[in-house]
Amino acid sequence: MNYRHAFHAGNFADVLKHVILIELLQALKAKPAPFCYVDTHAARGRYDLSGEAARRTGEHRDGVLRLLDAPALPAALQAYVELVRTLDGASADTLASYPGSPLIAARLMRAQDRAIACELHEEEAAVLKRELHHDARFSVHRRNGYEALKALLPPAQKRGLVLIDPPFEAQAGEFALIEAALSDAFARWPNAIYAVWYPIKLRETIVPFHRWLAAHAGAADVLVAELLLHPDNSPLRLNGCGMAIVNPPWRYDQALEAWLPTLAERLAQERAGSWRVEFLKRN
Ligand SMILES: C[S@@+](CC[C@H](N)C(=O)[O-])C[C@H]1O[C@@H](n2cnc3c(N)ncnc32)[C@H](O)[C@@H]1O
Repeated sequence: MNYRHAFHAGNFADVLKHVILIELLQALKAKPAPFCYVDTHAARGRYDLSGEAARRTGEHRDGVLRLLDAPALPAALQAYVELVRTLDGASADTLASYPGSPLIAARLMRAQDRAIACELHEEEAAVLKRELHHDARFSVHRRNGYEALKALLPPAQKRGLVLIDPPFEAQAGEFALIEAALSDAFARWPNAIYAVWYPIKLRETIVPFHRWLAAHAGAADVLVAELLLHPDNSPLRLNGCGMAIVNPPWRYDQALEAWLPTLAERLAQERAGSWRVEFLKRN
């Protein structure tokens, strides 16, 4: 386990993932009944952008910082920027820190909602426990997030969201772990929303995962949202990333189309960025 999210916090992949996370949590809040948020790979929760790791890669400069003062952003991107600024607390025209998925969820959850956050790395889990020790809505576990899905689902709350955001250190092998965990989770908690983040290097390594989702998601719709900053034909760099969403909210494809083009434009590298929203399966 060499992966540390501090090197990547606030990069283009985090922006895509966290804007979608915010929208899915907001959709769950449309009903008063409590929901449960499950974060299988939660990491440490907060990242110091002036720290050694963030300064070494500078990835947040081509991610969240490109949106910070952008004029006339679509509502979803504006809401993301405001939430990141609020959690940072700094009034300057830049950010001192960047929030991870559990802190974003904690900010949006209501008193009646609950969360389960898993993180396997000892130090990351310890930091997250400290971040959230005052928040009785959260259970933070130092454990394997895939195994936790088997052990802890379904939660008492009947509605909810599972975010699966692995480091992909096992490269394409990570998809096998995700599929095994999802098979079990779909059987235990079929009506939850599942959001699975994945990196895009070579397109052909993702196709089998998409086929698997379409074949195994039962009665659920499966939607994918992708952001590409480079062509998806090189195994050597992160060309883009995607989120597969099982049981997406009603008309969520249209909600994505309202902001993904602007995000692709804002985060473009040496060539135009591109995006894709597509149902892998729709009932
Ligand atoms: C991409 S980061 C997660 C970032 C976080 N979801 C966010 O958006 O702020 C992946 C994390 O998963 C942890 N990890 C790796 N394998 C794991 C496993 N099997 N179960 C739980 N956590 C794991 C890593 O230590 C790392 O902190």
